[in-house]
Amino acid sequence: MTTAAIIGGSGLTDLKNLSITRREVVRTPYGEPSAPMVYGRLSGKEVVFLPRHGPSHTIPPHQINYRANLWALKQAGIRRVIAVAAVGGIAASLQAGDLVFPDQIIDYTYGRAHTFFDGEHKKVTHVDFTYPYCTELRGVLNEAARRAKIAATDRGTYGATQGPRFESAAEIVRMERDGCDIVGMTGMPEAALARELDLRYATIAVVANRAAGKERSLISLKEIEAHLEEGMTKVRLLLEHAIPLIAAD
Ligand code: HPA
Repeated sequence: MTTAAIIGGSGLTDLKNLSITRREVVRTPYGEPSAPMVYGRLSGKEVVFLPRHGPSHTIPPHQINYRANLWALKQAGIRRVIAVAAVGGIAASLQAGDLVFPDQIIDYTYGRAHTFFDGEHKKVTHVDFTYPYCTELRGVLNEAARRAKIAATDRGTYGATQGPRFESAAEIVRMERDGCDIVGMTGMPEAALARELDLRYATIAVVANRAAGKERSLISLKEIEAHLEEGMTKVRLLLEHAIPLIAAD
Protein backbone atom coordinates (compact mmCIF):
# COMPACT_ATOMS: atom_id res chain seq x y z
CA MET A 1 0.00 0.00 0.00
CA THR A 2 1.20 3.49 -0.79
CA THR A 3 1.58 5.41 2.48
CA ALA A 4 1.07 8.90 1.14
CA ALA A 5 1.35 11.21 -1.82
CA ILE A 6 3.65 14.18 -1.83
CA ILE A 7 2.72 17.04 -4.11
CA GLY A 8 5.85 19.04 -4.87
CA GLY A 9 5.80 22.77 -5.51
CA SER A 10 8.28 25.39 -6.68
CA GLY A 11 11.76 24.32 -5.62
CA LEU A 12 10.67 20.71 -5.24
CA THR A 13 10.23 19.20 -8.70
CA ASP A 14 12.03 16.07 -7.58
CA LEU A 15 12.61 14.35 -4.28
CA LYS A 16 16.32 13.59 -4.06
CA ASN A 17 15.87 11.18 -1.16
CA LEU A 18 13.24 9.10 -2.95
CA SER A 19 14.50 5.80 -4.39
CA ILE A 20 12.32 5.60 -7.48
CA THR A 21 10.71 2.28 -8.34
CA ARG A 22 8.43 3.24 -11.25
CA ARG A 23 6.77 6.06 -13.13
CA GLU A 24 3.15 5.91 -14.21
CA VAL A 25 1.46 8.06 -16.82
CA VAL A 26 -2.19 8.32 -15.86
CA ARG A 27 -5.32 9.72 -17.41
CA THR A 28 -8.38 10.95 -15.55
CA PRO A 29 -11.86 12.11 -16.59
CA TYR A 30 -10.47 15.63 -16.06
CA GLY A 31 -7.43 15.22 -18.30
CA GLU A 32 -3.81 14.50 -17.52
CA PRO A 33 -2.16 15.33 -14.22
CA SER A 34 0.84 17.69 -14.17
CA ALA A 35 3.33 14.84 -14.59
CA PRO A 36 3.70 11.07 -14.53
CA MET A 37 3.31 9.84 -10.97
CA VAL A 38 6.66 8.87 -9.50
CA TYR A 39 6.55 5.89 -7.12
CA GLY A 40 9.41 5.19 -4.81
CA ARG A 41 10.51 4.43 -1.28
CA LEU A 42 11.19 6.99 1.39
CA SER A 43 12.22 5.87 4.87
CA GLY A 44 11.26 2.33 3.91
CA LYS A 45 7.68 3.15 2.85
CA GLU A 46 6.17 3.46 -0.57
CA VAL A 47 5.17 7.00 -1.49
CA VAL A 48 4.11 8.65 -4.70
CA PHE A 49 5.41 12.02 -5.80
CA LEU A 50 3.67 14.45 -8.15
CA PRO A 51 5.24 17.82 -9.07
CA ARG A 52 2.27 20.19 -9.50
CA HIS A 53 4.10 22.57 -11.87
CA GLY A 54 5.23 19.67 -14.10
CA PRO A 55 8.57 17.84 -14.19
CA SER A 56 10.39 20.93 -15.53
CA HIS A 57 8.38 23.58 -13.69
CA THR A 58 6.49 24.89 -16.73
CA ILE A 59 2.85 24.98 -15.54
CA PRO A 60 1.91 28.28 -13.85
CA PRO A 61 -0.36 28.19 -10.76
CA HIS A 62 -3.55 29.23 -12.62
CA GLN A 63 -3.06 26.57 -15.32
CA ILE A 64 -2.41 23.58 -13.09
CA ASN A 65 -5.01 20.87 -13.63
CA TYR A 66 -5.73 20.52 -9.91
CA ARG A 67 -8.71 18.24 -10.54
CA ALA A 68 -6.65 15.79 -12.62
CA ASN A 69 -3.88 15.79 -10.01
CA LEU A 70 -6.16 15.02 -7.06
CA TRP A 71 -8.27 12.55 -9.04
CA ALA A 72 -5.13 10.67 -10.14
CA LEU A 73 -4.05 10.30 -6.52
CA LYS A 74 -7.48 9.13 -5.41
CA GLN A 75 -7.61 6.69 -8.33
CA ALA A 76 -4.26 5.25 -7.19
CA GLY A 77 -5.77 4.41 -3.80
CA ILE A 78 -4.00 7.22 -1.93
CA ARG A 79 -5.64 8.41 1.30
CA ARG A 80 -3.17 11.00 2.57
CA VAL A 81 -1.58 13.90 0.74
CA ILE A 82 1.25 16.12 1.92
CA ALA A 83 1.47 19.22 -0.23
CA VAL A 84 4.64 21.29 -0.35
CA ALA A 85 4.22 24.93 -1.33
CA ALA A 86 6.40 28.02 -1.60
CA VAL A 87 4.84 31.07 0.07
CA GLY A 88 5.52 34.67 0.97
CA GLY A 89 5.65 35.50 4.69
CA ILE A 90 3.11 38.09 5.85
CA ALA A 91 3.26 37.58 9.65
CA ALA A 92 6.13 39.53 11.21
CA SER A 93 7.54 36.35 12.75
CA LEU A 94 8.05 34.59 9.41
CA GLN A 95 11.37 34.92 7.63
CA ALA A 96 12.60 33.42 4.37
CA GLY A 97 13.54 29.77 4.83
CA ASP A 98 10.97 29.17 7.61
CA LEU A 99 8.45 26.32 7.51
CA VAL A 100 4.74 26.66 8.39
CA PHE A 101 2.00 24.01 8.67
CA PRO A 102 -1.12 26.10 7.98
CA ASP A 103 -4.43 25.29 9.67
CA GLN A 104 -6.67 27.73 7.78
CA ILE A 105 -7.04 29.13 4.30
CA ILE A 106 -8.66 32.06 2.52
CA ASP A 107 -9.32 31.77 -1.21
CA TYR A 108 -8.62 34.83 -3.39
CA THR A 109 -8.28 32.85 -6.63
CA TYR A 110 -10.74 33.05 -9.52
CA GLY A 111 -11.53 31.27 -12.76
CA ARG A 112 -10.02 27.95 -11.71
CA ALA A 113 -11.83 24.63 -12.06
CA HIS A 114 -12.41 24.33 -8.34
CA THR A 115 -14.91 21.53 -7.78
CA PHE A 116 -15.75 17.98 -8.87
CA PHE A 117 -19.42 18.68 -8.22
CA ASP A 118 -20.39 20.79 -11.22
CA GLY A 119 -21.15 18.41 -14.07
CA GLU A 120 -24.57 18.29 -15.69
CA HIS A 121 -26.91 15.80 -14.00
CA LYS A 122 -24.70 15.74 -10.91
CA LYS A 123 -26.46 16.10 -7.60
CA VAL A 124 -25.73 19.40 -5.83
CA THR A 125 -23.19 18.57 -3.12
CA HIS A 126 -21.56 20.70 -0.43
CA VAL A 127 -18.59 19.51 1.60
CA ASP A 128 -17.66 20.70 5.06
CA PHE A 129 -14.51 22.85 4.91
CA THR A 130 -14.48 24.36 8.41
CA TYR A 131 -11.02 22.98 9.00
CA PRO A 132 -9.39 22.74 5.56
CA TYR A 133 -6.30 20.86 6.70
CA CYS A 134 -6.20 17.40 8.29
CA THR A 135 -5.50 17.60 12.03
CA GLU A 136 -3.95 14.13 12.12
CA LEU A 137 -1.49 14.89 9.29
CA ARG A 138 -0.60 18.28 10.76
CA GLY A 139 0.15 16.44 14.01
CA VAL A 140 2.45 14.09 12.10
CA LEU A 141 4.28 17.06 10.56
CA ASN A 142 4.69 18.75 13.93
CA GLU A 143 6.01 15.58 15.54
CA ALA A 144 8.37 14.99 12.60
CA ALA A 145 9.71 18.55 12.92
CA ARG A 146 10.31 17.98 16.62
CA ARG A 147 12.17 14.72 15.98
CA ALA A 148 14.21 16.19 13.12
CA LYS A 149 14.97 19.29 15.22
CA ILE A 150 13.59 21.53 12.50
CA ALA A 151 11.95 24.75 13.66
CA ALA A 152 8.45 25.13 12.22
CA THR A 153 5.35 27.22 12.92
CA ASP A 154 2.52 24.85 13.79
CA ARG A 155 -0.39 26.93 12.46
CA GLY A 156 -1.23 29.85 10.23
CA THR A 157 -3.71 31.12 7.69
CA TYR A 158 -2.76 30.63 4.05
CA GLY A 159 -4.07 33.25 1.60
CA ALA A 160 -4.32 31.76 -1.89
CA THR A 161 -3.87 34.33 -4.66
CA GLN A 162 -4.31 33.97 -8.40
CA GLY A 163 -0.80 34.86 -9.60
CA PRO A 164 1.30 34.40 -11.55
CA ARG A 165 2.32 37.93 -10.55
CA PHE A 166 3.15 38.64 -6.94
CA GLU A 167 0.80 40.85 -4.92
CA SER A 168 0.79 44.61 -4.57
CA ALA A 169 1.76 46.03 -1.17
CA ALA A 170 -1.88 47.11 -0.63
CA GLU A 171 -3.15 43.61 -1.41
CA ILE A 172 -0.82 42.26 1.27
CA VAL A 173 -2.07 44.89 3.76
CA ARG A 174 -5.62 43.77 3.01
CA MET A 175 -4.70 40.10 3.38
CA GLU A 176 -3.01 40.85 6.68
CA ARG A 177 -6.20 42.55 7.87
CA ASP A 178 -8.10 39.47 6.76
CA GLY A 179 -5.89 37.36 9.02
CA CYS A 180 -3.51 35.80 6.48
CA ASP A 181 -0.06 34.80 7.77
CA ILE A 182 1.32 33.48 4.49
CA VAL A 183 0.51 33.98 0.81
CA GLY A 184 0.85 31.49 -2.03
CA MET A 185 -0.68 30.74 -5.42
CA THR A 186 -1.50 27.02 -5.32
CA GLY A 187 -3.27 26.35 -2.01
CA MET A 188 -6.65 26.59 -3.68
CA PRO A 189 -8.48 24.83 -5.16
CA GLU A 190 -6.07 22.02 -4.20
CA ALA A 191 -7.16 21.83 -0.54
CA ALA A 192 -10.88 21.95 -1.38
CA LEU A 193 -10.62 19.31 -4.12
CA ALA A 194 -8.78 17.02 -1.70
CA ARG A 195 -11.67 17.45 0.74
CA GLU A 196 -14.24 16.72 -1.97
CA LEU A 197 -12.47 13.42 -2.62
CA ASP A 198 -12.21 12.68 1.09
CA LEU A 199 -8.40 12.77 1.00
CA ARG A 200 -6.54 13.73 4.16
CA TYR A 201 -4.49 16.78 3.21
CA ALA A 202 -1.88 18.95 4.91
CA THR A 203 0.62 21.49 3.63
CA ILE A 204 4.26 22.20 4.36
CA ALA A 205 4.60 25.87 3.42
CA VAL A 206 8.13 27.08 2.80
CA VAL A 207 8.61 30.83 3.20
CA ALA A 208 10.55 31.91 0.12
CA ASN A 209 10.42 35.66 0.73
CA ARG A 210 8.80 38.33 2.84
CA ALA A 211 5.52 39.30 1.18
CA ALA A 212 5.25 42.40 -1.03
CA GLY A 213 5.80 45.65 0.88
CA LYS A 214 7.18 43.88 3.95
CA GLU A 215 10.77 44.67 3.03
CA ARG A 216 12.33 47.80 1.63
CA SER A 217 13.57 45.82 -1.37
CA LEU A 218 11.36 44.43 -4.13
CA ILE A 219 10.73 40.71 -4.44
CA SER A 220 13.68 39.08 -6.22
CA LEU A 221 13.38 35.71 -7.93
CA LYS A 222 17.07 35.09 -7.34
CA GLU A 223 16.65 35.46 -3.60
CA ILE A 224 13.52 33.33 -3.67
CA GLU A 225 15.42 30.52 -5.37
CA ALA A 226 18.21 30.65 -2.79
CA HIS A 227 15.77 30.55 0.14
CA LEU A 228 13.74 27.78 -1.46
CA GLU A 229 16.85 25.69 -1.85
CA GLU A 230 17.51 26.11 1.88
CA GLY A 231 13.86 25.43 2.76
CA MET A 232 13.57 22.35 0.57
CA THR A 233 16.60 20.75 2.21
CA LYS A 234 14.62 20.99 5.46
CA VAL A 235 11.48 19.68 3.74
CA ARG A 236 13.28 16.55 2.50
CA LEU A 237 14.58 15.83 6.00
CA LEU A 238 11.16 16.56 7.51
CA LEU A 239 9.50 14.13 5.09
CA GLU A 240 11.99 11.39 6.03
CA HIS A 241 10.80 11.74 9.61
CA ALA A 242 7.12 12.23 8.76
CA ILE A 243 6.51 9.27 6.45
CA PRO A 244 7.16 6.55 9.09
CA LEU A 245 4.73 8.33 11.46
CA ILE A 246 1.82 8.16 9.03
CA ALA A 247 -0.90 5.64 9.88
CA ALA A 248 -1.14 2.66 7.55
CA ASP A 249 -4.90 2.66 6.95
N1 HPA B 1 3.20 35.64 -3.02
C1 HPA B 1 2.53 34.63 -3.61
N2 HPA B 1 3.07 33.44 -3.82
C2 HPA B 1 4.33 33.24 -3.44
C3 HPA B 1 5.09 34.26 -2.83
C4 HPA B 1 4.48 35.52 -2.61
O1 HPA B 1 5.09 36.47 -2.07
N3 HPA B 1 6.32 33.74 -2.58
C5 HPA B 1 6.30 32.46 -3.03
N4 HPA B 1 5.11 32.15 -3.55
